[in-house]
Amino acid sequence: MEYIINGANRLYGEIAVYGAKNCALPLLGASVLTDEDVVIHNCPYIVDVANMIDLLKAMGKNITWQGDTVVVSGKLNTVKAPEKYATLLRGSALILGGVVAKYNEIELPLPGGCAIGARPIDIHLAGLQALGVDVQCRDSSVICRGKPCGARYHMRFASVGATENLLCASVLARGETILSNAATEPEVVALEEMLVAMGADIEGVGGVDITVRGTDKLHGAEFTVIPDRIVVATYLSAAVAATGRVTVTNCRPEHLRSFINKLETRFAVKEYFDAITLTADSQPSDYGRIITAPYPFFPTDMQSLTMSLAAFSNGGKTIICENLFENRLQSNAAELNKMGANIIVKDNKAIIYGSNLRGITVQARDLRGGAGLVIAGLNARGQTVVRGVEHINRGYCNLAESLAELGADITENT
Ligand code: EPZ
Repeated sequence: MEYIINGANRLYGEIAVYGAKNCALPLLGASVLTDEDVVIHNCPYIVDVANMIDLLKAMGKNITWQGDTVVVSGKLNTVKAPEKYATLLRGSALILGGVVAKYNEIELPLPGGCAIGARPIDIHLAGLQALGVDVQCRDSSVICRGKPCGARYHMRFASVGATENLLCASVLARGETILSNAATEPEVVALEEMLVAMGADIEGVGGVDITVRGTDKLHGAEFTVIPDRIVVATYLSAAVAATGRVTVTNCRPEHLRSFINKLETRFAVKEYFDAITLTADSQPSDYGRIITAPYPFFPTDMQSLTMSLAAFSNGGKTIICENLFENRLQSNAAELNKMGANIIVKDNKAIIYGSNLRGITVQARDLRGGAGLVIAGLNARGQTVVRGVEHINRGYCNLAESLAELGADITENT
């Protein structure tokens, strides 16, 4: 699948944002903690969510998906995650904590790495061991057995997925668990809020130190997925690339403060409670220094978008320091350089000198890198063909249609 983009159309109008992939996935993972109905609203219709639902169905959960509401109920009939489904997405690792907590056993194919890095789950597994769970790695699977017992566990890195798994592992544990150096991304906070709605006893929601007092069981709940802050950043980046005036609605500006800070000193940005309007007439010289780090600092998932913005900025120098994923810079820089960008990558740093981009055929190799190439295509002179749209469809719902609604000349070729 590919996108065909003819740049230079200015963008105007309003676009609403849907639920966040990185919120929906841990909420679906946590649904295994109860047999009762877990009703999840604003669930995005994207490939990763569909694959996660197929995985849970294959393990025995009853799941219906009406519009943007997913209802999960029933018991698992196996604790062995079928390889066919579990290897379709890395997010499958997010069932680990909940299944161990509820069934005290799981066999899960190890999620492989991907284009942006090795992405091990050692912190997840060390945390389960700290909770007294027996963890064995056999061939390409991990087998965990035992009922979690409350413990103190300090994460060596504020891993989003590890925080989510260890929260789910501790809510039914015997005794009290104290997680320190926990991730505080909005998607993690949303999971904490849904667990509390299910009857979990959690103190310190949203903080770096979380205390969980294990309970005997959790009940069903109803919860709404938070807006996708990365999709917000993508639409705002499109407005910059093409220039024009775009309002992104149904969003939470406070969830992407560090990204907005980079834009509001360069463009007219107006914030409302649940919307952001950006007006761009020309490109800035540069974007200064971008240093990615866990929330609330600059998100690695918005780094690929910003690399594109810097690539077509007005001749100035931008420096990106990617501190989370060891391979996140290289592949996208190479594709942007094919378009005439001037990006030098060394280790985890990229130096970008703004230049004029021209349309050419480029290859998306990961989800956010692919979105970055689309942004570059909206600015480039001539026609850009972005191949590998299947990567983009993992995390975006109808990206081409949404951008076309704003006036972009973009079509999808299957
Ligand atoms: C989540 O991935 C997101 N995915 C990622 O979004 C996001 O980039 C990342 O958090 C950081 O914000 C989902 O929520 C489904 P981490 P996750 O554990 O949980 C290392 C997207 O495009 N690490 O915070 O895998 C890891 O290798 C995706 O939507 C270990 O070494 O991220 C990485 O270098 C991309 N051992 C760093 O920590 C572990 O046990 C951050 O990983 C776990 C992580």
